[in-house]
Amino acid sequence: VAILLHNNGYGDHEWHQALSHALPEHNIVRFVDGPLSKAQCAEIEFAVIWDHPVGDLANYPNLQGVLLLGAGTERLDRDSSVPLVPIARLIDPAVLQDMAHYALYWVMDLQRGYLQYRAQQALSQWHRHPSRAVADFQVTVLGLGPVGSAVAQQLQLNGYQVKGWSKSQHHLKGIECFHTTEQLPTALHNTDVLINCLPLNSNTEQFIDAQLLSKLPKGASLISISRANVLSEQALFDCLASAHVQRAILDVFEQEPLSKNAPHWQHPQITVTPHISGATYARTAAILIAADIRKIQRNEQPSYPHQHPAHLVLA
Ligand code: GLV
Repeated sequence: VAILLHNNGYGDHEWHQALSHALPEHNIVRFVDGPLSKAQCAEIEFAVIWDHPVGDLANYPNLQGVLLLGAGTERLDRDSSVPLVPIARLIDPAVLQDMAHYALYWVMDLQRGYLQYRAQQALSQWHRHPSRAVADFQVTVLGLGPVGSAVAQQLQLNGYQVKGWSKSQHHLKGIECFHTTEQLPTALHNTDVLINCLPLNSNTEQFIDAQLLSKLPKGASLISISRANVLSEQALFDCLASAHVQRAILDVFEQEPLSKNAPHWQHPQITVTPHISGATYARTAAILIAADIRKIQRNEQPSYPHQHPAHLVLA
């Protein structure tokens, strides 16, 4: 069995090694080495990919499964020629933990005002600011998939008051979960920090818009770690200008890498990180991918199956 590997340049060599190690019985074929011949295409049974060219997956007549090297599916969703085979998202607990820690770090920073103290040190200023108790500090997590749930639970374990809102009903210990559009204002009420963990799809594009942001109390902050297009950048910039939103911690951008002249870099209320809240680890991920490949070979569902929108229409 041959497996197509394409991680679009992100550590291709390391990935090849990790996958070959996890699947020693299979031939791992790197897409980056050039287009495959017809005979090579016929051997490919699984595609382990990220940011793969639209249309290419239709070239493998014996394809049995698509394994994404990440959690987000929006790029694959845009490719309507994806064959009707199981699709697996990569959800690595090690990455979920990193994302939860990223959120916790910035929530603590916002709650305790550490940024201010850093600025004060530069000015040799000894000045204490009133502090908010952790139990009174409210964080609202939008999106309660694997990422949002991990984030919400990490914050709850650390004593924060956590609410969650998601498209479907969730039950998480110690977290008030909401799910309908009608419940959204209640979820946003009294929020100190809003965290965007929503996946990008046709329902969530520009979901965090001026109207949604207006439901936050004045002075709330935003952390965005899923996809930038869930958020209206214009609405965010307007809210920062009016101080309705105090600070934004952004890990994801409409265009990545963020261009040198993007206004975010120099904005005093914005913190930029280069999409690192949860970077994939080849070694642990290869083990999860190998397990999913074996599941698909046994006609079982992968751990985190994804329904492609084009397949939904066909079904
Ligand atoms: C990364 O952005 C991912 O979707 O896993």
